[in-house]
Amino acid sequence: MNDPDRLEQPWRLWASVAILSVFAFSVLFGFVLMPVMQGRAAGIDAFEAICRALGITPGSPAARQPTTNAKAQPATRVAWSADLLNSLTKATAAGESLAGSCAGCHGRDGRAVEVKLYPDLAGQSAAAIYKQLHDFKTGSRPSALMTPMVQALTEEQMVAVSAHFAAFPVRPIPAAQLPAAGAAIEGLVARGDSGRGMPACNACHGDQSGGPTEAPRLSRQSREYLAAQLRAFKTGERRNDIYSRMRSVAAPLTESEIDGLALFYASTRTY
Ligand code: HEC
Ligand code: HEC
Repeated sequence: MNDPDRLEQPWRLWASVAILSVFAFSVLFGFVLMPVMQGRAAGIDAFEAICRALGITPGSPAARQPTTNAKAQPATRVAWSADLLNSLTKATAAGESLAGSCAGCHGRDGRAVEVKLYPDLAGQSAAAIYKQLHDFKTGSRPSALMTPMVQALTEEQMVAVSAHFAAFPVRPIPAAQLPAAGAAIEGLVARGDSGRGMPACNACHGDQSGGPTEAPRLSRQSREYLAAQLRAFKTGERRNDIYSRMRSVAAPLTESEIDGLALFYASTRTY
């Protein structure tokens, strides 16, 4: 009875069995059960899911591999310098002569000829105009109409035409007022929604808010244009915003909030 070997033997056996079964269960659970179950939800077949979990094929067993032929583009190539910002404040004769080619859609004085289709440029921040022209040119913001428009423009011409349109006064509020957007929307504009991690729109778009240099003025732009841009950010169709600022703000917005926010900014004088 006092033989130490005989005392230990059943212990060793049971301990080894216990460790081995925990190990076998972990392997089965982690590399077979979990990937197969997650893969089924994501539409991936069992074999592929197990291969992915083992690291044999790339990708996650829980998510479809994105399939697209689109070429990856950086969010933007714009870099702000003091010289650039300074030259954007000076309206020149060069800007005026270039503006003729934009007038057919954006109007001679920067007020769009058809606001549902084209954004106003009058009174827009010159930095915002320049940033968008730059992104249309490099392909960061693809647009069937604007991409070809800017191909021939040089860096200096983009600066000149931006400063030109920025100098016009903003479209006045029409006599027939739009309906009020409501308290919930005004709350989003002024305070955001901490529950959904959303900053206030006016933290960046407010008059004198000190938001990002390229943040555009939104007020008096048409409801249709504003809502279309918010939807494009929400779906990721537009993705030229630095640090995904707008994509992350727009992602949690509901459809009716998008319409409400577009209405709010379309009908307000400031911001
Ligand atoms: C044939 C019509 C057309 C012409 C001409 C045109 N644009 Fe545009 N522009 C558009 C459309 C449409 C959009 C909206 C694009 C989108 O949302 O994808 C736009 C958007 C823009 C924007 C973005 C504004 C914003 O608030 O995001 C800027 C800046 C701009 N245009 C500047 C110009 C300048 C400068 C010219 C002249 C060199 C010009 N456009 C000529 C149709 C035109
Ligand atoms: C963290 C700063 C920030 C916040 C908060 C923010 N925005 Fe923006 N927004 C930007 C910037 C910067 C751009 C310009 C993106 C780019 O570079 O093209 C932009 C662009 C937009 C545009 C496109 C305008 C145009 O002329 O093309 C719309 C519409 C817009 N924001 C609406 C909103 C609304 C509505 C909210 C609140 C729900 C909001 N934004 C909150 C920074 C912000």
